[in-house]
Amino acid sequence: MRTIETGSVRLLVKETVPAVLSSRFGEEAAGAALAFHRTLPSYRETALVPLPSLARSLGLGGIYVKDESTRFGLKAFKGLGGSYAIHCLLKEAEAARGGGSAGRTPEMPEFATATDGNHGKGVAWAAAQLGSRAHVFMPQGSAEARRQAILDAGAAEAVITDLNYDGTVAFAREQAEANGWILVQDTSWEGYEEIPARIIEGYLTLAEEAAAVLDGEGITPTHVFLQAGVGAMAGGIAARLRQRYGKTLKVVTVEPEEAACLLASWQEPDGLPHTVGGNPRTIMAGLNCGTPCGVVWPVLRDQAFGMAAISDDVSREGMRRYAHPLGEDRPVVSGESGAATLGFLLEAAREPALREALGLDSSSRILLINTEGDTDPEMYRKIIRETPAT
Ligand SMILES: Cc1ncc(COP(=O)(O)O)c(C=O)c1O
Repeated sequence: MRTIETGSVRLLVKETVPAVLSSRFGEEAAGAALAFHRTLPSYRETALVPLPSLARSLGLGGIYVKDESTRFGLKAFKGLGGSYAIHCLLKEAEAARGGGSAGRTPEMPEFATATDGNHGKGVAWAAAQLGSRAHVFMPQGSAEARRQAILDAGAAEAVITDLNYDGTVAFAREQAEANGWILVQDTSWEGYEEIPARIIEGYLTLAEEAAAVLDGEGITPTHVFLQAGVGAMAGGIAARLRQRYGKTLKVVTVEPEEAACLLASWQEPDGLPHTVGGNPRTIMAGLNCGTPCGVVWPVLRDQAFGMAAISDDVSREGMRRYAHPLGEDRPVVSGESGAATLGFLLEAAREPALREALGLDSSSRILLINTEGDTDPEMYRKIIRETPAT
């Protein structure tokens, strides 16, 4: 493993591309999630946006952005996971009672979760779709706009705590136990793995949609850059895409430098997930998580080619480039966490040491996921007011 540092990016890369390993996040799970999502009235496939002008200007073969800013009208991909997990829970409960398909029952449970915003919005929305309620807890410093968006998305209570993200997860767990709510959390710990795994399976829908479009155009991605908080989305998507495209696909995770728990864990010799403590501050609210998700940590540990940590300025640059595209490219509305990977790509393509370490050249075809739109509209407007430097 080697480390490359620029002023705003730290990248760890393996010397060789790792082998493909099997996991539960494969074809069958992805197919089941996609089939479920297709039954939802508000389901629409999100766009895969090519950025040919930007790719040319960076000397790359292609850039393709799976644009999740329009998913279910929630401005983020997260509703995919919450809805699928709740569907599976209700279906299993129904089966245990010897009944038929999932649907509204007199014993409809209520749900609880901790969130930086997007996941809670997805859970509140999914609960409302089923005629239930969600109780959503947010870390200290969460934007009021994000809390309001949760209330708008479904029948929910949403509370900003005075705890950091990990503390808020523990609090939501206690509240769920005390009140008989079902915890629908997008990260895992010992003994709490099945619901997070279902959430991750739900995310696979976006990988299936993206791959189907790429296949249709005869494009095989060489790199996928995945932004990570606890790494649940990155791990699931990485597992599925590597199963699909094979060993040559290089997976790189991107985290805020203040909360780079995957990268920190990768540096430890014991191979275990490690926590980054404190009350980290970053504009990338969705990525501000201190502990890797144990369900997918082994996937990322063993199958990631690189792990990067970036400064907030890198994400701002990504947001501005999405908002003010080059040449024939179309604009994409991308928030702070959504644009982290484009920001990283801009820096990586320009910096020779990063470019070389990642093997970026004119034959590279990069897949990015714009995981959110303007989920904090005021901050978004402020940031994109400036046009990009180049
Ligand atoms: C917009 C956005 N992108 C990416 C992520 C990262 O997902 P994960 O925590 O599974 O790594 C989140 C998580 O909340 C998010 O809200």
